[in-house]
Amino acid sequence: MAATPWLLLLCLAAAGGGVLQARAQPDSKGFISIDCGLQGDTGRTDNVTKLAYVPDNGEYTDDAGTCHNISAVYITPFMHRSWYNVRSFAAGARNCYTLRSLVPGLKYLVRASFMYGNYDGLNRPPGFDLHVGVNYWHPVKISRPDEAKYVEVIVVVPDDFVQICLINTGAGTPFISGLSLRPLKKTMYPQVTTAQGLVLLNRFNFGPTKNELIRYPDDQYDRLWFPWVNPVLWTEMSTTRKVQNMANDFFEVPPAVLQTAITPWNNGSQIQFSWDPQPQPNDPSPAYFAIMHFTELQLLPSNAMREFYINLNGELWHRDAVTPEYLYSRPSFNTFAARKSQYNITINATARSTLPPIINALEVFSVLPTTNLGTDVGDVSAIMEIRAKYQVRTNWIGDPCGPGTVMVWDSLTCSYPIASPPRITRVDLSSRSLNGGISISFANLKVVQYLNLSNNNLVGAVPDALSGLTSLTVLDLSGNQISGSIPYGLLIKVHDGSLDLRYDNIQDLCTNGSSCQPVKRKSKLAMYIAIPAVVMVMIIVAGVIFCFMRRGRKGSMNNSANPRRELMTSYASGTDVYMDNSLQLENRRFTYEDLQVITNNFQKVLGQGGFGKVYNGFLEDATQVAVKLLSHSSIQGVNEFLAEMESTWHLSMSTCQKEPCKNILKEQNIMVDVYPGNRGSGSHLNLRKD
Ligand SMILES: *[C@@H]1O[C@H](CO)[C@@H](O)[C@H](O)[C@H]1NC(C)=O
Ligand SMILES: *[C@@H]1O[C@H](CO)[C@@H](O)[C@H](O)[C@H]1NC(C)=O
Ligand SMILES: *[C@@H]1O[C@H](CO)[C@@H](O)[C@H](O)[C@H]1NC(C)=O
Ligand SMILES: *[C@@H]1O[C@H](CO)[C@@H](O)[C@H](O)[C@H]1NC(C)=O
Ligand SMILES: *[C@@H]1O[C@H](CO)[C@@H](O)[C@H](O)[C@H]1NC(C)=O
Ligand SMILES: *[C@@H]1O[C@H](CO)[C@@H](O)[C@H](O)[C@H]1NC(C)=O
Ligand SMILES: *[C@@H]1O[C@H](CO)[C@@H](O)[C@H](O)[C@H]1NC(C)=O
Repeated sequence: MAATPWLLLLCLAAAGGGVLQARAQPDSKGFISIDCGLQGDTGRTDNVTKLAYVPDNGEYTDDAGTCHNISAVYITPFMHRSWYNVRSFAAGARNCYTLRSLVPGLKYLVRASFMYGNYDGLNRPPGFDLHVGVNYWHPVKISRPDEAKYVEVIVVVPDDFVQICLINTGAGTPFISGLSLRPLKKTMYPQVTTAQGLVLLNRFNFGPTKNELIRYPDDQYDRLWFPWVNPVLWTEMSTTRKVQNMANDFFEVPPAVLQTAITPWNNGSQIQFSWDPQPQPNDPSPAYFAIMHFTELQLLPSNAMREFYINLNGELWHRDAVTPEYLYSRPSFNTFAARKSQYNITINATARSTLPPIINALEVFSVLPTTNLGTDVGDVSAIMEIRAKYQVRTNWIGDPCGPGTVMVWDSLTCSYPIASPPRITRVDLSSRSLNGGISISFANLKVVQYLNLSNNNLVGAVPDALSGLTSLTVLDLSGNQISGSIPYGLLIKVHDGSLDLRYDNIQDLCTNGSSCQPVKRKSKLAMYIAIPAVVMVMIIVAGVIFCFMRRGRKGSMNNSANPRRELMTSYASGTDVYMDNSLQLENRRFTYEDLQVITNNFQKVLGQGGFGKVYNGFLEDATQVAVKLLSHSSIQGVNEFLAEMESTWHLSMSTCQKEPCKNILKEQNIMVDVYPGNRGSGSHLNLRKD
């Protein structure tokens, strides 16, 4: 059958980011209400609930999917507006909605709704799966075009966002009509923990006066209480008096639901209902919780009594008989989930009861294990920034590492430690036409071992921060237009053999003494003064090792008139690293006041490094230097800065062992560290001396 093109509508969703950003937040009640596939960017106010429904273009779905109207054939006069349109996801094995600005650790009710309505003109209702975060949630099997399906779960959301994903299982194109999120109180639904959620099977309001759904605003949590009417089997009962929840009630059933109830027809003594377990792909025999709500709606004379037992499959479920309280709700529920082949619930009056049993409302849930952990949040935010910066498409949707190894984003490899979140260990973005600089976010993939960025169009410098990746063993930057030099921290790793660094085209590179070209040595020396300014107490430290050619160089520093100047004794193996054997070293200490003079009171900023600003300065002999000052607001901490200083000294001055260096730091003395090559980010000066 041919598609009917007039039904197929492409979403024109080019609304401004600011407007959409505001919508991505929950509203003042913490609700998120999405009308999937709704066109335009104004949204609509539901005229039953008065809730504002937003369209799902833009950042909810990362622009994935297309909007469609359902076929007019399936639109009925009283149909709710939210069924009119859908968003479908023809491409990709997994497509996700990201609901943001949540409270980590809070319980949320998430409800997805589906009506196929032959939106695609194919008359083929599809089947697919739903995931909540990295946990399997529920299958969606649409059997008829006019079937309206709700899938609801109550879960603890561990992070400040949750992703709801539609998984293509090969049984048709996944689509969705609506998606809602409602925050609950932490004390509600005590069966819900970080390890398990509850998937709704049924939520019934017994004996309603109107055959209508009860929801928001009657239910402040906007649960859907479906009407259960059958006057043939049951006698309905209701009150207009106010019905209240007990203090610390776990369920806060709305009064409108509690005001109606059923009792057995013709004074019978039993209420019975049953359900069959619904096998799930992830659990062939799920366990169930039933929550029953009881309230006495009649003011009973003193000689009357309503008392009953609750039985499951003919066995007492609760040892104690239940006597509902007048106009107060009382829940009865199991605290441990029951796993049976069938569930027959019988509520029978006790022998001494003069009145039949009563029930006002019922909720039945299956247990959803939520033990899969999402990828480490630091890794997630780093890789999300990388995705945004390089506009990586393909399957970079949902959780980067899972669930399972099937869903992992391509180009990534993860490790799955027991009982802790998965981590990203390998990133191969070679030949992906990446443009721009090397993202600093790569340095936030803290346990990455392999990073292949080869054969792209990357430009700019290698970020200094990559030196902090302690697990990194392979870094392939070849086939790019990267400039500047390799950061010092990476050089250390290359030297000690812990890093396989591949590159080409990088100027001023001096990874090994032997590879430094003599012409460069003659023409360029970089000076680098590093200063941590530690919060209140200004601990100022900089290291300087002057290295210059013996020929015609030696005199300049020796002639400088600084009283604190000290000569270091030798340079041992370090000599080979930088220069030919004629290298000489001088070690000099500066005070903060000296550096103020050198930099003319920190006037000229050369650039911004990972730790803070880098300032231009001149020594007494007019030698130009770069002074790096640790900023208070630096993202990287003081400890890392000091560690970098120490490792710098460790490498550059064999005579300066770690402990003495620390002492130097403590004495608030200053050393200046000079070495050839341009340090990483290009923010330090290259000195020219004739
Ligand atoms: C889809 O539905 C919207 C809202 O009812 C309507 O404005 C639009 O004209 C419909 N499009 C088609 C092609 O029927
Ligand atoms: C809802 O609004 C539409 C128009 O916006 C109106 O035709 C319809 O009668 C309203 N329904 C109810 C239940 O108020
Ligand atoms: C049910 O029992 C009550 C009290 O015993 C009685 O008044 C009422 O007539 C009975 N109803 C029916 C339908 O038998
Ligand atoms: C539940 O009730 C049905 C019908 O009364 C009965 O056939 C079935 O055996 C019962 N199941 C159990 C497990 O008691
Ligand atoms: C109600 O159920 C309990 C437990 O199964 C049983 O012991 C009792 O006899 C039943 N009462 C009546 C009146 O059927
Ligand atoms: C990086 O990727 C390219 C292209 O796939 C490959 O040829 C190269 O060997 C990789 N580099 C390393 C170090 O594995
Ligand atoms: C670095 O230099 C040393 C000694 O000059 C040499 O043995 C080593 O092979 C060089 N390493 C590289 C990677 O060039």
